[in-house]
Amino acid sequence: MKLKVLVVAGDGIGPEVTGEAVRVLRTVAELGGYDFEFREALIGGVAIKQHGLPLPSSTLDAALESDAVLLGAVGGNEFNSLPPDRRPEAGLLQLRQSLGGYANLRPSFAWPALASNSPLKAEVVDGADILFVRELLGGLYFGEPRSWDREAGSAWNTMRYTRDEVIRVARVAFELAGARRKKVTSVDKANVLEVSQLWRATVTELASQYPDITLEHQYVDACAMHLMNTPRNFDVVLTENLFGDILSDEAAVITGSLGMLPSATLGGTVNLYEPVHGSAPDIAGKGLANPLGAILTAAMVLRHSAKLEQDAQAVETAVRKVLEQGYRTADLARGQSKMGVTTQEMGKHVHQ
Ligand code: NAI
Ligand code: MG
Repeated sequence: MKLKVLVVAGDGIGPEVTGEAVRVLRTVAELGGYDFEFREALIGGVAIKQHGLPLPSSTLDAALESDAVLLGAVGGNEFNSLPPDRRPEAGLLQLRQSLGGYANLRPSFAWPALASNSPLKAEVVDGADILFVRELLGGLYFGEPRSWDREAGSAWNTMRYTRDEVIRVARVAFELAGARRKKVTSVDKANVLEVSQLWRATVTELASQYPDITLEHQYVDACAMHLMNTPRNFDVVLTENLFGDILSDEAAVITGSLGMLPSATLGGTVNLYEPVHGSAPDIAGKGLANPLGAILTAAMVLRHSAKLEQDAQAVETAVRKVLEQGYRTADLARGQSKMGVTTQEMGKHVHQ
């Protein structure tokens, strides 16, 4: 097994958390006798400082030559006065677009040891294990025409999908559900939107190719409520760009901390893996960051790019164990006198 990983750690806590994720991947490679190769490149604020650009062409070239890109986070207060297209965040958007991934995966998992961290009742979140598959390249965020006519005082965006765009992302959802609890909930607003009617018809048609998967449809407004009331009823949630953006953030409360959330974007030239959180300038450089989101992101690299499902599960089990043993970074401690650990100590407990 050979895998070339480009690590773009970025800014703030990015280098701290990706450092621990890479250590975990190195341990997996050592134990399994795999040949993982790690290269590093600059993105975001650090790239602006050295090259004047948030995504230098050398970074993009290195990304396109790799099998997987592992990103930390970008952004910092010192760049906030720059115009949007020159800020660190522009580098990440450009990287996402250049890699071309259309299926954004965001798991929302209720870690039993963290049940008291969620604002939801323990008996509601207990056992919840949801995988969002969000379409990432279409819909309102990219549809043309789009404009703000200041004089006329009106603005418009276009929600647009083609059948092929729906099929390719729905396929990812059905395939993933096959390896899980075999249920796909497709979320739309087909009672109001033509785009959603196309979405629903296309997903229904594709479902006939996956007879062992149960497909259900939900309207997005109802889904928003069901996610909080009965999160256990969901397995894979398939939805378009805007709905997925909102619902996956909503469902993040199931997990209890932003620092616990991994993500992967599949389907493009090279898969892109990143924890959901940002660069957290308020805690950067202090050893306070929770590296588990980045470590669980590394598990997704193993699952989706290396096709090492058992090793991915081994990493997730190691995370479960350190949480059960009571180790907590500051974001998880919630003032309780638990075993407080630094970023590096938490990483060490996982990869040992
Ligand atoms: P953020 O996710 O960086 O931080 C939000 C809050 O969560 C902060 O209080 C932070 O300390 C905490 N937090 C985040 N990750 C944590 C972790 N791993 N462990 C413990 N605590 C953690 O979002 P914010 O503050 O809105 O943005 C900060 C910067 O990050 C901005 O420049 C923003 O543009 C950028 N950003 C970058 C993203 C990316 O690179 N994918 C995503 C979101 C924001
Ligand atoms: Mg968002």
